[in-house]
Amino acid sequence: MTTKEKDEKYFGRGNPAMGLEVVKAEGSYVYGADGKKYVDFLGGAGVGNLGWGVKEIEDAIRNSDRPSYVYPNFYYKPWTELAELLAELAPGKLQKSYRMTGGSEAVEAALEMATMFTGRKKILSVEGSYHGNTMGALSIGASKKQKNFPNLLDGCEKLELPLNEEKLQQVEKLLSTKEFAAVIMEPIIINLGVIIPEGKFMAGLNRICKETGTLLIMDEAITGFGRTGKMFASEHFNIDPDILCMAKAITAGHAAMGAIITTQEIDEKVGGEIGLYSSYGWHPVAVDASLVALNFLKSNKNRLFQNIEKISNLFRKEISEINFRKDPEVRIKGAAIGIDLKDEDYASEVKTKALKAGLLMNTEGSSLLFLPNFQMTEKTVHEGIDLLKQSVL
Ligand SMILES: Cc1ncc(COP(=O)(O)O)c(C=O)c1O
Repeated sequence: MTTKEKDEKYFGRGNPAMGLEVVKAEGSYVYGADGKKYVDFLGGAGVGNLGWGVKEIEDAIRNSDRPSYVYPNFYYKPWTELAELLAELAPGKLQKSYRMTGGSEAVEAALEMATMFTGRKKILSVEGSYHGNTMGALSIGASKKQKNFPNLLDGCEKLELPLNEEKLQQVEKLLSTKEFAAVIMEPIIINLGVIIPEGKFMAGLNRICKETGTLLIMDEAITGFGRTGKMFASEHFNIDPDILCMAKAITAGHAAMGAIITTQEIDEKVGGEIGLYSSYGWHPVAVDASLVALNFLKSNKNRLFQNIEKISNLFRKEISEINFRKDPEVRIKGAAIGIDLKDEDYASEVKTKALKAGLLMNTEGSSLLFLPNFQMTEKTVHEGIDLLKQSVL
């Protein structure tokens, strides 16, 4: 049986397979069993912020002399080192990290923490958004997905786009009921094709949250660790998150991990009681991968962030010169690139043609989504753009 046949027989897939069998991934390229080399603008959907197979991280995983497992209620030095590093990297007063295995678990934990801290039940989120596949995360996500399962959280309200100054009236009206435990969103909404909220909206949201005792949860599972040109996308705005969710690039793709980080004040009230036990949360292998990946990001920050700016500008220029069927809306923040083609069928046709041509990308509705790694060279960007040009006809 071929891999495809076995996959079809034994593998449960919530989303259709793309049709590519991978045998190797290196730097900005993915290699198929078909012998083809693919330019990777997909970046594992935001996981691979440093490119694939970073030697320092691979070595750390292989060489470390570590326990095979540490029971969560023991002390373990690398946990404290990673938590200290996250507190250093995270914005504002965020200081206490909780261990998770990924983004969905981090979102669930953030919702649990907010409801416990405030004693309130309702959650405000953004219509159409994606926060993971667990029931709580789905309940705060796109309403149309909820047709197939019961919405577990009572009283989830959704804000429609655009997120501008006018939208603050609705936010004020809802939050002043003091029934909402939290507002949760991505600060730059990559999962809706890189939607950039207005600065005035974000500053107003932050103010209203503080005035009404509503917690502000920033889900930075995909925006975190440099993706938008800042360490965290929350830093683009004048905001002060109470809880921040992390995942994906936290290990640069080398092991499963997530985290939430919160303030001392919130931790003092809920810590020790909230539970959030996670058997594999911050497994020693993942912690070693994360420590090396984040220290690499920290010590190469200037070089990497300069390169993000360089390729970001290059993408903007090159995309503006492509003849799409209709004029697209291009939304770029750092290494998060959304090209809204205003036609979902056209977007998926481009993605399919690009795959055939040797270029990997994602789509979100009618938008093409590129999440290149921060070490991608201009040469590779040009190579991918040439393949894109062939795929948009
Ligand atoms: C913003 C956001 N939150 C949560 C998740 C879920 O993360 P995971 O797939 O690690 O459960 C994702 C994944 O795409 C995400 O982009």
